Amino acid sequence: MLPFFLALALSTTPVAADAPVDHYPTLPHVHGGDHTYTEFGGKDGLTALMDDAMNRWLVNPRTRPFFEHADQARIKHLLVQQFCVVLNGPCTYEGRSMAESHRGLQVTEGAFYALVEELQIAMNQRHIPFPAQNRLLAALAPMHKDIVTK
Ligand code: HEM
Repeated sequence: MLPFFLALALSTTPVAADAPVDHYPTLPHVHGGDHTYTEFGGKDGLTALMDDAMNRWLVNPRTRPFFEHADQARIKHLLVQQFCVVLNGPCTYEGRSMAESHRGLQVTEGAFYALVEELQIAMNQRHIPFPAQNRLLAALAPMHKDIVTK
């Protein structure tokens, strides 16, 4: 038998049957290294990085199908905002949650790792120090649960 208050809460909480499961509704932040945002070159560095990364995602056969018909400029803009926030930079993220924005895309494990791999190549080419890269990737890793749905 459920305690009264719990039964009441469960019976009155509206849950849409098709609501995305948001494991990670708020953005993570990198730990250690207050200078990580600077190591990425600030807003200009992130903008250039996202240009390079998107170009690579459009070439890689595992990621291309997801991006070729998408609004690439909008996604890049939101990624710059999002990474800026994650790196403790002076920005606001105006996009949707990861569960919401990737819902229905059927992103596979393979596509996720291909995207991260291309991002790593782009970061190396821009000479972003490894510890800074790793801090970003560690912060992004838990989003995996909300993005890979297939
Ligand atoms: C850690 C990994 C990832 C991060 C941080 C990330 C971040 C984002 C962000 C910030 C947006 C914009 C949100 C919005 O539209 O409001 C977005 C959208 C999108 N992402 Fe990702 N993403 C990741 C992985 C992936 C993967 C693996 C794929 C597919 C290979 C993918 C495909 C897309 C697509 C197609 C959109 C546009 C959706 C739409 O316009 O409706 N993402 N992502």
